[in-house]
Amino acid sequence: MTVDTGNPGAKISPMLYGAFFEEINHAGDGGLYAELISNRSFEDSSVTLFNWWMDEKEGSKGKLALTSSKLLNDAQTQAMALTVSSAAEGGSVSAVNNGYWGIALTKDASYKLSFYARPEPGDNMPLRITLESPDGKELYAEQTVDKLKEGWHPYTYTLTSTGTVANARIVISAANVGTVYLDMVSLFPETWNNRENGLRIDLAEKVAAMKPAFVRFPGGCFVEGKTPTDAYQWKNTIGPIETRPGHKGYWDYRSSDGLGFHEYLQWAEDLKAEPLYVAYIGISHNGDPIAKQNTVPVSEIQPWIQDALDAIEYANGPVTSKWGAQRAANGHPEPFNMKYVEIGNENNFQMSEYIKRYGLFYKAIKEKYPEIHLIANAAVEGEPIEMVDEHYYETSEWFLSNSNRYDTYDRSGPEIYVGEYAVTKGAGEGNLNAAIGEAAFMMGMERNSDIVKMSSYAPLFVNTKDRTWNPDAIVFDSSTSYGTPSYHVQQMFGSNKGDVVLPTSLVALGQEETSGKQSIQGGIGLGTWATQVEYSDVRVAKGDDVLFEDHFKKDSGAWTLNNGDWEQSKGTFKQTSNDIDIRAVAGEASWSDYTLSLKAKKTGG
Ligand code: AHR
Repeated sequence: MTVDTGNPGAKISPMLYGAFFEEINHAGDGGLYAELISNRSFEDSSVTLFNWWMDEKEGSKGKLALTSSKLLNDAQTQAMALTVSSAAEGGSVSAVNNGYWGIALTKDASYKLSFYARPEPGDNMPLRITLESPDGKELYAEQTVDKLKEGWHPYTYTLTSTGTVANARIVISAANVGTVYLDMVSLFPETWNNRENGLRIDLAEKVAAMKPAFVRFPGGCFVEGKTPTDAYQWKNTIGPIETRPGHKGYWDYRSSDGLGFHEYLQWAEDLKAEPLYVAYIGISHNGDPIAKQNTVPVSEIQPWIQDALDAIEYANGPVTSKWGAQRAANGHPEPFNMKYVEIGNENNFQMSEYIKRYGLFYKAIKEKYPEIHLIANAAVEGEPIEMVDEHYYETSEWFLSNSNRYDTYDRSGPEIYVGEYAVTKGAGEGNLNAAIGEAAFMMGMERNSDIVKMSSYAPLFVNTKDRTWNPDAIVFDSSTSYGTPSYHVQQMFGSNKGDVVLPTSLVALGQEETSGKQSIQGGIGLGTWATQVEYSDVRVAKGDDVLFEDHFKKDSGAWTLNNGDWEQSKGTFKQTSNDIDIRAVAGEASWSDYTLSLKAKKTGG
């Protein structure tokens, strides 16, 4: 490898390698968000008690039901009613939940159990809460609540597990006849950086090891939702978890929004990464051409523009501002100093709508926050474009052959953010071939970092029990996780960032460097690109009409030729210390019908 330190090329953008987070594949709920209880708030289905079931023991009888009356607060639309209708000696009726495909426990680790409960007036309903094996034979932790207060009240306990297990369940049991209403049943392990309502440690550590310069959130299509009702509304994702209603995510499961706007900002801060917020612009995912119900009409877009402005105020505003005060109330008086906002997600697929909206958002945000870097989904004619987000999901071969893609990009155009890319075709659940294609492409981005300023592989996470999108960077189940080869490429590039591109050339010693054919005009010159070089089967010919044939070798200094005294009427041959020159005699036959073929290899130096 030759590295030309004297002629540095482009500066490498310090923002080049980031992380793309989307609530897809249970990346957040049942993943990075450390909550261990699924459907903790009983909102996941209005028809059945999703992931909760009843267990009756020793002859006691009862029922479990959804209720929508006398709820905890306005954010809640449902709670669970646990009723014991007949109590047998030593018996109980329980509500059981096994978390996200099993609750993982570690021996001697602490777990924060919390819930809200309201006994039916007049009913005395002591509770016993246990963490157990699926068959109930192993008990890992136990908590009794002797007396529930009247009305809704929070209850919080610390449990310590006596065992390490990947598939425990939580069991809430009542023995007395009566009804108790439960809501927001939560169980948290210790979290990354010890954050309240925080992140699963092994997964957060894997992202931290990538050393991402930024974190993009919350997606992806998750931003858009299938309809405007399901779009990401950050204001519903902040504050105490019991006040967050949650919403139907784009990827066919409900999001608790426990991992909310504030938590994303906190996560980025803890990673020392820049937060990049993708704002919804009234175009939902289903529809090109866009069905009416999937679009907020441009005439009604102002509240969404305000929503994006408020998001920036929440992140950056002083504590005296409305949303800055909310941020402070949520435990972070200092501004998060968010610098990047993207206007819409992948709405270049609905370009006719995008062009109507981009400028409105751009103008409103720039006017109030000129310092914010704004990213577009596509270049919109006539509008100021700072940076364009490009997405590529292709074969490994495509990425390899596109490693030069940016070499010829227009330098007077906008900057590029490759916001989503991955080898998805032929990559299965992730493989080395995919990672090599991505790595080659990343070299191209890095080499052209004067225009390619940011990039993020997507998606980041997959729970093996919800493989909606393949492949992904980090794979996990309830208790374990690993990085795919693509993850390791991201981790390697992200943690080995250069400052500047140095021109390099690489030749493998002793290997055929090249072989090929080309038609020639007038003459050929074979130069020395190495101290030791070998040209074999050098042949200038038209069919059987061979003008020249030789084998040259240069060791240290002089050339060795097989046919060194070659000189013919049609051409001349000359050797200098560096070059071999074979030329048609002026005025003689044109060589344009002749072809040069050769093999060349570098043998050293
Ligand atoms: O990364 C998965 C999906 O791919 C994203 O949600 C979307 O933006 C893109 O189409």
